[in-house]
Amino acid sequence: MAEQTVRVGVIGTGMGRLHMEAYSKVPGVVINAICDINEEEARQFAQKYGAPHVFADYRQMFDAGVIDAVSIAVPNYLHAPMTIAALEAGIHVLCEKPMATTLADAQAMVEKAKATGKRLMVHMNMRFRGEAFALGRLVRQGILGEVYYGRASMIRRRMVPTVHFPPTGIMGRGPWFLDSEKAGGGALMDIGVHTFDLMWWLMGQPEPVAVSASTFRKLYEADAARMGVKFDVDELASAFVRFGSGAVAFFDVSWAANQAPEWNVRVCGTKAGLQVNPPTLFRDNGGILENTAIELPETEQVSPQQHFIECIRNPEKELISSGAEALQVMRVLDGIRRAAACGHEVSL
Ligand SMILES: NC(=O)c1ccc[n+]([C@@H]2O[C@H](COP(=O)([O-])OP(=O)(O)OC[C@H]3O[C@@H](n4cnc5c(N)ncnc54)[C@H](O)[C@@H]3O)[C@@H](O)[C@H]2O)c1
Repeated sequence: MAEQTVRVGVIGTGMGRLHMEAYSKVPGVVINAICDINEEEARQFAQKYGAPHVFADYRQMFDAGVIDAVSIAVPNYLHAPMTIAALEAGIHVLCEKPMATTLADAQAMVEKAKATGKRLMVHMNMRFRGEAFALGRLVRQGILGEVYYGRASMIRRRMVPTVHFPPTGIMGRGPWFLDSEKAGGGALMDIGVHTFDLMWWLMGQPEPVAVSASTFRKLYEADAARMGVKFDVDELASAFVRFGSGAVAFFDVSWAANQAPEWNVRVCGTKAGLQVNPPTLFRDNGGILENTAIELPETEQVSPQQHFIECIRNPEKELISSGAEALQVMRVLDGIRRAAACGHEVSL
């Protein structure tokens, strides 16, 4: 049977271009509209992917009745208003991370999805990378036993958006990344959201209950000022999270640090442990700890866009990285901002 045709639109031609490319590989998906305030760039991508409609104003795109689903890949402060407007227009939403800049906005997005019955997914693409996806499946099969500890780091050394990213690059081009009102936070909201989300997902998504944290901006504020760019967000964030299950997790992320680069997520359970870099399962076999390398066959790899479309076609299919899950992550990120501001542990 032929797949139901789904007409998609993409807002934003930075990271949004990766959404376009992914949709172009999903059978039965028609990229029908591209929207960006940079209309010229929107036109170029519309041409590349054969989209007949180009918009500079997202409301006009939603009102035109030309799309069933939309990817939203614009500055963070626009995620909530665009998502809510799309859902109200009866359009399913795949929104970029972080889902919003405030907890209240994230809640409103999830409530609107419930009220309209439309799908809301947040683009936590790290979950879909082959090995992480395979590890996630093992976690859901209960392979870890009781999960009690998570630890994750994404330490970048010289990757402050605008300061280190070329304005002609494919993403991370806008100075909005460094502005708290537009981004909601710095390394925390940009890469902390990925790092915490992946760790939390691989821990089996325990209920977060409390957070202690500190955030820092020590290295590049003066450089940004010389470039005439407002920079009032964190460069480095460090957080300790407690869960209702009794498990705890520590993670740290940085855009800039005088340190070796690092990327890993580790989870400890009573029956086994795991890490994502390199993807490994650690299992006790008669007193000897065995390491098993984890792979996902190419035939089983799914892009977030393909999964989103499958969930639109089948309303019974459970979303990986639903708005409701992202709201839990947002509660933690919001707690981290509050804990860093007050200097002690806060309840969520
Ligand atoms: N999942 C990931 O791995 C990943 C990677 C990079 C960026 N992102 C996310 O994607 C989003 C966009 O990031 P980016 O790097 O592409 O930023 P960017 O600054 O490079 O591009 C943003 C684009 O949005 C457009 N835009 C701004 N306001 C608009 C409006 N009102 N209507 C239509 N278009 C508008 C801009 O013209 C620009 O083309 C952010 O939320 C970011 O966190 C996610």
